Amino acid sequence: MERLGKLRVAVIGAGAAGLCAARHVLSRANSFEPPVVFEQSARVGGTWYYEERVGTCDDSRPIHSSMYRDLRTNLPKEVMMFPDFPFASHLPSFMTHWDVQQYLETYCKSHDIMPHIKFNTMVEEVKPISMETDEGGAVRWEVISRGMHEGHSTQIFDSVFICSGHYSAPHLPSIPGIELFKGKVMHSHSYRCPEPFAHQSVVVLGAGASGVDILFELVQAKAQVILSHNKPALTFSLPLEIQQAPPVVKVQDDGSLLFQDGSVAHAHVLLLCTGYNYHFPFLGQKQLGLEVQHHLVAPLYKYLLPPSFPSLFFIGMCKLICPFLHFHYQIQFALAVLDGTVQLPSRELMEEDAEKERQRKIQMGVPVKHLLQMDSDQWDYYVSLATTAGLSPPNPVIQSLYDEVAKRRRANPQTYREINYRLVNATEWQVLNSPSVEADHI
Ligand SMILES: Cc1cc2nc3c(=O)[nH]c(=O)nc-3n(C[C@H](O)[C@H](O)[C@H](O)COP(=O)(O)OP(=O)(O)OC[C@H]3O[C@@H](n4cnc5c(N)ncnc54)[C@H](O)[C@@H]3O)c2cc1C
Ligand SMILES: *[C@@H]1O[C@H](CO)[C@@H](O)[C@H](O)[C@H]1NC(C)=O
Repeated sequence: MERLGKLRVAVIGAGAAGLCAARHVLSRANSFEPPVVFEQSARVGGTWYYEERVGTCDDSRPIHSSMYRDLRTNLPKEVMMFPDFPFASHLPSFMTHWDVQQYLETYCKSHDIMPHIKFNTMVEEVKPISMETDEGGAVRWEVISRGMHEGHSTQIFDSVFICSGHYSAPHLPSIPGIELFKGKVMHSHSYRCPEPFAHQSVVVLGAGASGVDILFELVQAKAQVILSHNKPALTFSLPLEIQQAPPVVKVQDDGSLLFQDGSVAHAHVLLLCTGYNYHFPFLGQKQLGLEVQHHLVAPLYKYLLPPSFPSLFFIGMCKLICPFLHFHYQIQFALAVLDGTVQLPSRELMEEDAEKERQRKIQMGVPVKHLLQMDSDQWDYYVSLATTAGLSPPNPVIQSLYDEVAKRRRANPQTYREINYRLVNATEWQVLNSPSVEADHI
């Protein structure tokens, strides 16, 4: 794109993705004006800012973070970090949410991002204001925001980075008869700690990352737990106290839960660990030619931009990734597109490419609801972004340690966090301590 003057970038959200975007815009002061970061809350950190309250904030916005009190990271800090900003050396590999929040605050200070964040300011609308997409990217973006005390404001930008996260809007499965359930129905978004569930019977629905974590918390707090899920078999053995059941198919007239195999249970609590919806209330999806469903945003070229609007960037839409590493590559690739270092293919070719990628996954047997899951595909993806944008790809040691931790997590999701690691060099890592051998009593 050829332009006179510097580019103006809006960033929606001051979580990890938004901070990373701001940091890289700021470091390219020759091509970019300082960014404007819109943050609806009064703080940076997004998901990592633990909020004890559930429901709504003082200003009646829904609580954003789904963080629970005793969470420890499911990636070791050596893999989780932004590659150019290590975590403090005194921290264990698997950290608390406080540690990550501190890290993000330090990142923000070190890169002097704070002055560019408009706090308590919610973006309400983002729209393209010129439709001449085929004539050299002449689209600009109107961003309408509302400050808590200031009313509406409209600003124009050359590009918008959507860094608003996608673990906030609970996905609620439809369960026939749910209104007949006599206990409490809640979503993991509102789960904070296990004590209130002591001696209660809880059916946990879903065996994803949160489902499994919360399950163990509940058992330690002496809840009676049934794990209801549709996975063919778990890769690990569950403690004896935990029963398993297939998915809940309905709630019967007497308030009991009926499972797919015909078994029945009464429970005090039905805890839905059923994931989250993609949700962009500030976007006119139709106008942008985007399909947004609870599990899908499409089409996105390189999982990053809509082919018709190559100055709108969706950061971190994928699942089963190393989020911070992922942001690091996506954001720098996007900035290279904007400053002209990277020339994108035509709209048609980008659409074809996105469609080919979708077909590839479907042919591999990936269900539509998992099309945005990356997992082992993420490494080639980072290399591809890095190569195109002239960045150094992630060191092989990162994938190696990621795979090691994934293996241990699958084998024993209760104890894998006890090990501490150290990166030796670009290809090797080392175990610092391995108490898990003696930790069988847990
Ligand atoms: C329970 C849980 C555990 C996790 N554990 C890990 C882990 O161990 N390791 C790991 O790497 N990742 C983990 N993740 C993933 C985590 O989401 C990412 O690490 C990262 O926090 C995502 O950052 P983000 O900036 O994309 O989104 P968020 O952190 O959600 O930040 C989005 C920000 O945008 C703001 N915002 C939203 N809409 C608007 C608007 N309209 N206007 C203005 N501001 C807006 C929000 O207030 C928020 O501050 C976990 C996620 C959850 C939910
Ligand atoms: C990394 O360290 C290991 C062990 O010290 C060594 O054998 C290997 O050659 C090193 N690799 C690189 C790339 O430096």
